[in-house]
Amino acid sequence: MFEKISVAMAASVFVVSSGVAFAQSDSSVAEQISRNGFLLENGLQIPAFDPVEGRKLFGSKGCIVCHSVNGIGGEDAPELSAEYMDDPMNAFDFAARMWRGANAMIMMQEDELGEQIEMSGEELASIIAFVHDADEQAKFSEDDIPENIAELLEHDED
Ligand code: HEC
Repeated sequence: MFEKISVAMAASVFVVSSGVAFAQSDSSVAEQISRNGFLLENGLQIPAFDPVEGRKLFGSKGCIVCHSVNGIGGEDAPELSAEYMDDPMNAFDFAARMWRGANAMIMMQEDELGEQIEMSGEELASIIAFVHDADEQAKFSEDDIPENIAELLEHDED
């Protein structure tokens, strides 16, 4: 599943995603990464950053109960709209922000969702891709929120 590419190629992809013009062949590497992820020569895996998957996860994992995007969602926690994110965004900085807020967030999750949200690294990568993607966020609608989560959200708004 993971495509093995060199660190140099990976570095050039990050340059592409930061908006610096590069040859077109590089953008197809970027597209490949967003589909399949890749494996660095040192054995570390970079997961696929799939914003479409992230849109579904943002609803189904329950982030939406406390964080809003596109004007939808709870207001107990900072809004996570793409316009408030760094551009370019270091994905690990997003995870570091979650870590910083972890204490308050976990207590509140246990209180409102009944348990701490579990997720894999791949799922988190897709959530991060979604949070950074204004176009994908514009597609977020009530349809992305499963019933059990929607109930919590309504409860929260009372
Ligand atoms: C039950 C409520 C709740 C849920 C669910 C929740 N969060 Fe949070 N989150 C919070 C609170 C409260 C804070 C603020 C913590 C603080 O300021 O100390 C926070 C902070 C954050 C921050 C840091 C924001 C900043 O401005 O630095 C990020 C990023 C974040 N959450 C992402 C997520 C993601 C992604 C999910 C879903 C996987 C999620 N949260 C689910 C309550 C929640």
